[in-house]
Amino acid sequence: MKKENTKPILQTEPWFDDMEAEAVSAYIKEGGWITEFKKTKEFEESIAQFVGSKYCLTAPNGTLTLVMALIACGVGPEDEVIVPDMTMVATANAVKLAGAEVVFADVERENLCLSLETILPKVTKKTRAIMLVTFNGRYPAHLGKIVQFCKEKKIWLIEDAAQSLGSYKGGKHLGTFGDIGSFSFSVPKIISTGQGGALVTNDASLYKKLKLIKDFGRESGGSDHYLSVGWNFKFTDLQAVVGLEQMKKLPWRINRKKEIYRLYQEKLKKCSGISLIETNLEDTVPWFVDILVSDKKRGALIEFLKKHDIGSRPGYPALHSEPAYRYKGSFPTTEKIAEELLWLPSSSKLTDEEIEKVTDTIIEFFKK
Ligand SMILES: Cc1ncc(COP(=O)(O)O)c(C=O)c1O
Repeated sequence: MKKENTKPILQTEPWFDDMEAEAVSAYIKEGGWITEFKKTKEFEESIAQFVGSKYCLTAPNGTLTLVMALIACGVGPEDEVIVPDMTMVATANAVKLAGAEVVFADVERENLCLSLETILPKVTKKTRAIMLVTFNGRYPAHLGKIVQFCKEKKIWLIEDAAQSLGSYKGGKHLGTFGDIGSFSFSVPKIISTGQGGALVTNDASLYKKLKLIKDFGRESGGSDHYLSVGWNFKFTDLQAVVGLEQMKKLPWRINRKKEIYRLYQEKLKKCSGISLIETNLEDTVPWFVDILVSDKKRGALIEFLKKHDIGSRPGYPALHSEPAYRYKGSFPTTEKIAEELLWLPSSSKLTDEEIEKVTDTIIEFFKK
C-alpha cells in the first residue's frame, strides 16, 4: 500500500505563534520579573470580563483551583463531596487533596453531566459540596434545579468548567452558576498557558479567602502578617503574557470549534456504528469532538485511524472502577459511556480537508 504523503492529524494540539513569542520577548526586554504581578492581574481581569464574573484569580493549574475552591468553602475531613463518575480524574483527586470524601454519582446520557436525579440518592448529612462538571461545554438539562437545590440545602456548588471556556447556557457563561467556577489552561484546552487555571466568583468573601489561600495567607504581598493558613499557588506573569495573547484568539477559536463540530456532524450523520451527543451549538463550544462508538468497535476504530495517521483518544474511564478509587455502586450510564466515548481530532488548527479525511476514514472503517 502506498503511504500517503501527508502530515499526521493529531487528536489535539496547542496553537502558539508569533503573537505569543513577540509578547513574551517584549515583556522580558521591558524587565518583567516573570513572577505574578501586573500582567497576571490584566489576564485575570480579561477572564472575569469575558465570563461576566466580578472576581477572577489565577493558579498554577485547573486541579489546584478545585482544591482552592474546596478549601475556601471550608470543605475538609468528615465532609462528603459529590463528583460525577464521568470526569477527568482531577475533579475527584482535588476532593482527596482537600481531605474530604469523594462520593461518585452517575451522569446523564444526553449531556454527560450530573443531574438532580443522579445527585439526590447520594446526598447525606455530610454532603458539603457538589462538583458540577460541565463536560465538554455541555450542561445538565435542569441546571437551574441543581442550583436551587444547593441553595436550599446550603451545599456549595463548585463548577468544574475546565472544558467550558466560551460555553454558555442561555447567555450566561458556564462556571458562573454556582458559588465558584474553575477553568484550566492546560495544553489541550481552547486557550492555553502551558499549565494554568483560574477561579471565578461573584462572592467577595470567597474571593478574599481564595487570595489568602493562594499567597501564604498574607494580608498583602510582601507583608508577613498571616490572616489564615495559605500556600503558594501563584501564577506567573510569563504565563499571563501568553494567556493575554491567547484571549485575543478566543472569539475566532470559539467560532472555528463550532464550525469543526458542524462539519463532523454533517459528514458523519449517515455513518451507522457511531452516534453523536446532541449539542446545542448556540451555547456549547465542543472543546473535543466526541462520538460514541457502539458494539465494542472503539479499539479497532482507533487502530484503523492510527494506520491512516489520525490520532484519537478514548474518553475517560468510569472513575469508581479505577484502582485509585474502587468505589462501590451502580453507574450504568457512565459505564456505557466509558466503553463508547471517543475523541476525534479537535484542534482549532484543523483544516476542512483534514476533517474530511478523518470522516472518510471512519466511514470506510464501518463499510469494511
Ligand atoms: C474536567 C476537568 N477538571 C480538571 C482538570 C484539571 O486541569 P489541569 O490539567 O489544569 O490541572 C481537567 C483537565 O483536563 C479537566 O478536564
